[in-house]
Amino acid sequence: MSGGKWAVVSGASSGIGEHLAQGLAARGHDLWLVARGTAALERIAQELRDRHRVTVHVRTCDLADPVARDALTEELAAEPVSVLCANAGFPTCGPLSTNDPARESAEVQVNVVALHALTQALLPGMLARGHGRILVTGSTAGCQPVPTAATYAATKAFANSFAESLHVELRGTGVTCTLLAPGPVRTNFYAEGGMRDLQKNPLLAWLTPRRVAEAGLRGMAEGRRVVVPGPVAKAQYLAGRHLPRTLLFPVLGRTVLPLFRRAGTTAHPQSVNSRKV
Ligand SMILES: NC(=O)c1ccc[n+]([C@@H]2O[C@H](COP(=O)([O-])OP(=O)(O)OC[C@H]3O[C@@H](n4cnc5c(N)ncnc54)[C@H](OP(=O)(O)O)[C@@H]3O)[C@@H](O)[C@H]2O)c1
Repeated sequence: MSGGKWAVVSGASSGIGEHLAQGLAARGHDLWLVARGTAALERIAQELRDRHRVTVHVRTCDLADPVARDALTEELAAEPVSVLCANAGFPTCGPLSTNDPARESAEVQVNVVALHALTQALLPGMLARGHGRILVTGSTAGCQPVPTAATYAATKAFANSFAESLHVELRGTGVTCTLLAPGPVRTNFYAEGGMRDLQKNPLLAWLTPRRVAEAGLRGMAEGRRVVVPGPVAKAQYLAGRHLPRTLLFPVLGRTVLPLFRRAGTTAHPQSVNSRKV
């Protein structure tokens, strides 16, 4: 990976973010690790210091909190950061009408506003130094609307679009932006979204967070536009982008909704089964 040493990873306390941090430390980067879980961040930071002899700062922050988020972005904007992995995020699942409004709002704050704020805070310094790498964790869920995960899919549509726009906008600047768009990955994500049992479904061909993180870091180092790790994610990515909605919604109704229902998430069945969309 070219450029300076300092990397920021948001959502570094578990899952894909933890493995992004591990991969960056193995490549010699010093790190800022950001998430809410101080104990997990401290444990990961100590492992990385011991194993890779890098400097690791832990920065506990609730990215849904505008005051804490502003303080973080102001602090990081003053640092010579050369790599940003904007990865923090979580899903909600179920009918919007009955989902907790505060959690829905926090989801937008973390998945959209924090991603946007971190990128905008760090980008000017990268441009001034003439080098930088940005990796945005979007999702195949952002390639199409997903009834019963309406807010999550919309936040990831933002992430996907934002990353791809920046990829083109930054050409020739020495700074690159890569979209990492995973499909199903075995992390805390599904428990967070009340879909714990979904992980028992073998049809989704689960990837490990390590594999996804490594694919993302390789793609970011190469300055690629998009990284979609694994065949299931690639199929989801293509179908979501290219299938007409009139075909897609009935397919989702037969595939995604039954999985969510078996996983214990309630939804309005008609909402995705209807062909009248
Ligand atoms: N797993 C999948 O199948 C999958 C598929 C596509 C995309 N993704 C995306 O991958 C990214 C990482 O998720 P994951 O699968 O690795 O799940 P995960 O293990 O649950 O990791 C989520 C990370 O985000 C952090 N986070 C959540 N809310 C936060 C908040 N309010 N403030 C600060 N940090 C917060 C969590 O840390 P704390 O809880 O300690 O704050 C954690 O470090 C997310 O953007 C997710 O949307 C996941």
